[in-house]
Amino acid sequence: MSVTFHKQDSLFRLTTKNTLYAFELTHGTLVHRYYGKKRGATVPTSADIKGRVVSFSPYRDENDKAFSLDTQPLEYSYYGSGDFRPTALRIRNRHGDSVTCFEYVSHKIRRGAVDRAPLPSGRADEKTQTLDITLRDLVSDCELHLYYTVFYDCDIITRSAAVTNRSGADVVVEKLMSLCLDLAGEDYDVITLGGRHCRERTVYQRTPLFRGNLAITSRRGATSHQMNPFMAVCARGADENRGDVYGFNLVWSGSFLNECECEQTGSARIQAGLGSESFTYRLRDGETVHAPEAIMTYSPTGLGTMSRHFHDFVNRHIVPEKAKERRPVVLNSWEAFYFNINEDIMVDFAAAAADCGMDMVIMDDGWFGARVHDRAGLGDWFVNRDRFRDGLRPFVERVKATGVKFGIWVEPEMVNPDSDLYRAHPDWVVSCRERTRSLSRSQMVLDMSNPAVIDYLKASFTETFRDVPIDYFKWDMNRHISEPGSPNLAPEDQGSLSYRYMLGVYSLFDWFTKQFPHAMIENCSGGGGRYDLAMMYYTSQIWTSDNTGARDRVLIQYSSQLAYPASVMSCHVSNPKGDLHELDLKYKVAVGGILGYEFNVLNTDEAIKEEIRRQVAQYRTFDHLIQNGTHYRLASPYETELSAYYYQLGDEILLSAIHTNGSAVIGKKKTVTKLTVRTADKHASYRDLLGGGTYTGEQLRAGIEIGAFDLDETGYGAKLWHFCKL
Ligand code: GLA
Repeated sequence: MSVTFHKQDSLFRLTTKNTLYAFELTHGTLVHRYYGKKRGATVPTSADIKGRVVSFSPYRDENDKAFSLDTQPLEYSYYGSGDFRPTALRIRNRHGDSVTCFEYVSHKIRRGAVDRAPLPSGRADEKTQTLDITLRDLVSDCELHLYYTVFYDCDIITRSAAVTNRSGADVVVEKLMSLCLDLAGEDYDVITLGGRHCRERTVYQRTPLFRGNLAITSRRGATSHQMNPFMAVCARGADENRGDVYGFNLVWSGSFLNECECEQTGSARIQAGLGSESFTYRLRDGETVHAPEAIMTYSPTGLGTMSRHFHDFVNRHIVPEKAKERRPVVLNSWEAFYFNINEDIMVDFAAAAADCGMDMVIMDDGWFGARVHDRAGLGDWFVNRDRFRDGLRPFVERVKATGVKFGIWVEPEMVNPDSDLYRAHPDWVVSCRERTRSLSRSQMVLDMSNPAVIDYLKASFTETFRDVPIDYFKWDMNRHISEPGSPNLAPEDQGSLSYRYMLGVYSLFDWFTKQFPHAMIENCSGGGGRYDLAMMYYTSQIWTSDNTGARDRVLIQYSSQLAYPASVMSCHVSNPKGDLHELDLKYKVAVGGILGYEFNVLNTDEAIKEEIRRQVAQYRTFDHLIQNGTHYRLASPYETELSAYYYQLGDEILLSAIHTNGSAVIGKKKTVTKLTVRTADKHASYRDLLGGGTYTGEQLRAGIEIGAFDLDETGYGAKLWHFCKL
């Protein structure tokens, strides 16, 4: 049993393969006791922890002044009842105040995960167990469920909360967090990944926690390029292979708030969830609102182990079944032609993809409505007959006759004002009455909280893609939400627009996967603007960034893998401009993830094409390591001149080292001269299938010399080794 409740000491214990999480039920309250190593753990109980009265911290029982909600490490916390730290839940009741104090009622331990559809969450396997605790606030008459789901083999525990209104009148949920964790001590650093469009997750920040609130957030209606919801809280000295690390993330794609606050008792409160700035929810009598699922993991051996827990969890419990198939090497039309596509160009392009040994051609933007530039056509999902004279199906049949599969671009959530859809339904966009509707990339956001919009999209896509053999969709989303309001919602429900928007998006994703079961979906939001676990739930991979330059990609890909596996990281080689060194660099950077190409191979000289054929064939000899292998980082481009890592699967190891110009290094630069494959089998010998050398497992474990790189004038070059056991 991975979840137990011991009556004698009122202790809940959640165990994973290597970790233990424990909390106690005392004074009707759930008090956190332990999160760390399972082996040799001693969990303190309230009998061990001598409470002390802290001045100015309110208590509820005159006979036990030491039990204050302000000083106890809590499993969840409520606004206004004496806990002055950031609280996880705030509900405005019918009397107008927002105070609650929930007390334990009962709990259940059951197999499987929590169904919060259409909100996605980790998929259960036969070992998955959930602890469901019911609490009640007698005054507001609301019920609270706290859920803990244990994914034993991945060392992941997920958290979330749901509120049900039993009061007979409306209440307003003003803040709803998924996770609250009070960690003992305050000597922690927080690692977060900021960025912007074309520089996603490259602002690698490691900040010491301090007295006060450290928050990362998105208010954009999307998880965003600007701040990823991943967060690690680690011991000050923790590094790649040493030290305590707690990792957190959300299965959610909208606005969020993650916060850490150290306070007077010398502990750190960690929270993750919806926050309050972009979320309020009028909850009707009998209605339930769910926070998204948050995930957490603990590693006693640094950031590397934390990442591997996350990678394992994503590969086993997040991505759809489709993602387990071998991924295609695609040739995408966007950086080749932008909007200038038509049937003949695309058929020639497909033939070129086949000629280079690729598996699929992707027709990106420009195939529908009046979409000949980015100022028109979004929303009109009907093939442009000027460009595809006989319609989609005969064209796709011509593509397939060249020997490749076919993928197509869509951006369902958006509309251009210059479109038939907007002219017919100006009230179908996210907007606030007569207030100006801001544009971004000349487009507006469809109101995905409105069922009529979802129905329209389903009908359009059914009609347009009926009997068209599509193997892949690229689902894009190219702006953030401003003027967050819905003409379709009552005034009291406007605060929930961003939340309801996401539910609408998830329900459409769900429909897509059922309507087109043979197609894989690649997610994109101007590159990696929704690089999050909820998108990964529906889509096999994500377009990591619109920036395909190898030098920036080194950073983007390195930090993306802190929280997400290579199997979701879509990486294309873009135009090398006739330069074979550049082509080699772009390729070796791209095979950090799932390889594709994105440039006009039609007007490329034969030497480049020949090299691409060689690359694709080579990639096919080790792509299983990237998609399914275990990832080990060896050198960080934020600390050294290298980005180096390896993937291991069974008897094979793919080792990669990319030499950079060191401009991303934060602080004092470290030097790495050897690459240590510490998980190589010391009793075996390996042959490098790319370079030809033979190494003993001992040699790989001791570290191999990197040797000289073939550097270009910018200081970049890359090397690959593919070791196979003899
Ligand atoms: C976004 C995507 C690109 C491309 C264009 C098409 O910018 O990130 O890859 O699909 O849209 O308009």
